[in-house]
Amino acid sequence: MGLDTDTIRRDFPVLDRTVNDTPLVYLDNAATTHTPTQVYDTYEDYYSRYNANVHRGIHTLSHEASQAYEAAHDRLAEFVGADGREEMVFTKNTTEAMNLVAYGWGVNRLDPGDAIVTTEMEHHASLVTWQQIAEKTGADLRYIRVTADGTLDMDHARELIDDVELVSVAHVSNVLGTVNPVRELAALTHDHDGVILVDGAQSVPTRPVDVKTLDADFLAFSGHKMAGPTGIGCLYGKRHRLEAMEPFLFGGEMISHVTFDDSEWNDLPWKFEAGTPPIAEGIALAAAADYLDDIGMDAVREHEAALAQYLIDELDARDDIEYYGPPGDVERSGLVSFNVDGVHGHDLSELLDNHGIAVRAGDHCTQPLHDILDIPGSVRASVYVYNTRGEIDTLLDALENAQRKRDHLLTDHYHDLIADYYQNPTNPDGITNPTFRKHSAETTCGDEGEFHVRVDETGRIEALGFQSDSCAVSQAVASLLADHLTGAHIDDLTDLSGTVDALLDGDFPDMRRDCVVGPEDVLQAGAREHLTDS
Ligand SMILES: Cc1ncc(COP(=O)(O)O)c(C=O)c1O
Repeated sequence: MGLDTDTIRRDFPVLDRTVNDTPLVYLDNAATTHTPTQVYDTYEDYYSRYNANVHRGIHTLSHEASQAYEAAHDRLAEFVGADGREEMVFTKNTTEAMNLVAYGWGVNRLDPGDAIVTTEMEHHASLVTWQQIAEKTGADLRYIRVTADGTLDMDHARELIDDVELVSVAHVSNVLGTVNPVRELAALTHDHDGVILVDGAQSVPTRPVDVKTLDADFLAFSGHKMAGPTGIGCLYGKRHRLEAMEPFLFGGEMISHVTFDDSEWNDLPWKFEAGTPPIAEGIALAAAADYLDDIGMDAVREHEAALAQYLIDELDARDDIEYYGPPGDVERSGLVSFNVDGVHGHDLSELLDNHGIAVRAGDHCTQPLHDILDIPGSVRASVYVYNTRGEIDTLLDALENAQRKRDHLLTDHYHDLIADYYQNPTNPDGITNPTFRKHSAETTCGDEGEFHVRVDETGRIEALGFQSDSCAVSQAVASLLADHLTGAHIDDLTDLSGTVDALLDGDFPDMRRDCVVGPEDVLQAGAREHLTDS
């Protein structure tokens, strides 16, 4: 039987709000989920009745806070099948949990030439962290290939894991929705005496996860993606792994005895929780675990799978849409990334927002994976326990005729110059013989772009052009600048702040400020570099 979304939705008052005069359709759950009243009632109860520091006071409030905080560790341990609080460390988020393994375990254990194996579909939280650790230790970082259907190439995995110290793998890809065969990867890793860290940011909130079944040495996840608060994440570790691991942060709470010469570490898990921990957040996260278990994690997984299957079937039937990752009939999570032909993700995201729909657009912190997919970015719709098939229909309706809607968006929400310059751009293919070029690789949307500037011997700008894959707004602004600044002096380009704002009379949605001022910043940086170099 499916989830009773009518009842569930009553627990999330935010879902009653409107955005741009239409009911909110929140499909950005892979970034952050909403929090039910049961969770923030717990949070409020803590602050209104027993807010106090933990493990530090011989008074009633501190005692109550300590007990609730400790019990929260047991609850989260139980949620993922661990053996108790000793195996459950509270962190700020998944990223910090992974860094704890990287610095506590990796830096102390890895030697030059040791192998770290990860995958091409990792989130930057993992990929960038292991790059840093490889650089610090001299270890060799290897990536398991992603196949054309968005799964891991397991032959390649077997080849790479032949000799390994550490494997770090996302359980569920935050772009492709792929559910990776963690159990098989763990068996391979252990056959070669390695250690496996599982990034559970997208799996723990969306399906039953049992660390014993997976045989994971470490599992990292975040509270804010599982109906819990922000500011709290978890690192599960097998007890003997955590006992052997060095702390990463030092200070109060994590010690048992300190002299001027030396310190001894506290018991697990406190050894890894230096300073005042996220007490209210931890206690509220336990309430989120209760909430999800009341629904049932099998039911959560099935609900997500059914909505994803429906969305994929509908997207697949449209000629102007491409989605990424395994087909709907293969096990995957409830997130679907896609692109609409000719409509940049930022423009699409804004036009969906006009229909009250929240999605995520950009590279989703997986730039190398987007390079493999050969796309600058994608739009991601992701569901959770409160989403309905009706909301997927609202999304699908809004995606109809997206190009035409994008053109209306430019006319309705921006100064006339934006639509004009987008339709009739100035030098959109660049110019010949530029004196200098300035390349930009935008990090939030992954766009590549380049300004070309030709300067005469007196320092006057003879011609300006650009080449860009970026959104319609940024392209229009680049074109506007190309026109407006032709004839100006190069010195004028070194301080362009406020130029575009003034040209557009501030007539653009503030939400798109980065897209509007981005070209100005790039051009300004290019002019400064040119003058410094020449
Ligand atoms: C697969 C994956 N790993 C790690 C993270 C990082 O999570 P956080 O930002 O909560 O640290 C995310 C967040 O989107 C994710 O999807």
